[in-house]
Amino acid sequence: EVAPVITIDGPSGSGKGTISRLIAEQTGFHLLDSGAIYRLCALACLRGNTDIEDADAVNRVAQTLDIRFDVGTAGVIVFLAQDDVTGDIRQENVGMAASTIAAFPSVRASLLDCQRSFQQPPGLVADGRDMGTVVFPSAGCKVFLTASAEIRADRRVKQLQDAGQASVDRGQILADIIARDERDTNRATSPLVPAADALVLDSTALTIDEVLAEIMALIKSRA
Ligand code: C5P
Repeated sequence: EVAPVITIDGPSGSGKGTISRLIAEQTGFHLLDSGAIYRLCALACLRGNTDIEDADAVNRVAQTLDIRFDVGTAGVIVFLAQDDVTGDIRQENVGMAASTIAAFPSVRASLLDCQRSFQQPPGLVADGRDMGTVVFPSAGCKVFLTASAEIRADRRVKQLQDAGQASVDRGQILADIIARDERDTNRATSPLVPAADALVLDSTALTIDEVLAEIMALIKSRA
């Protein structure tokens, strides 16, 4: 029997990263942060001076990507060729580059096996943009989490401030979020859209606990 999968898709800042981690904790399932895989591929390109507009060149990087996720007490540590890049992949420029390379169909195809390999007993919580539509279309439980661009910008500002970043430009962050949404939603391959059988949840006016409760109720109803 294959391990069950819960997919949590949505735009950046919708809270899906936090929610996915909490759902994984409550269910005891493994966690796949698929955005981290795109970020790792983007970082490998940036470090290797690969032109991120060149699909073939980026695809060669994707096919030879040497990555590792270590689950520790302080969270997940991410490695690129033995190098701890947990912090580096969260940089704004890496996120933008990830969104650029994620638009190439060949790159997305090359990263499929890596993502699917996370489906292991007792189960998987998969966080991303196309988990329910492309990577795990037969998942038993699918959620699409959204929130207004404004509130996602506010959350991102707070996240950066909490991380100790001194000068945070909210206007720039909001513009980046809108630009990234635009690109993720309008690309031809695996656009950011809810799966037909996904529960669409708008978290704009909800607390994390409220979102968590709704999703746990869905999981129990499907179990
Ligand atoms: O979720 P995160 O912000 O870390 O993702 C970085 C970028 O990777 C996104 O902007 C998106 O373009 C891409 N991505 C994707 N498909 C996924 C996860 C992320 O295209 N499943």
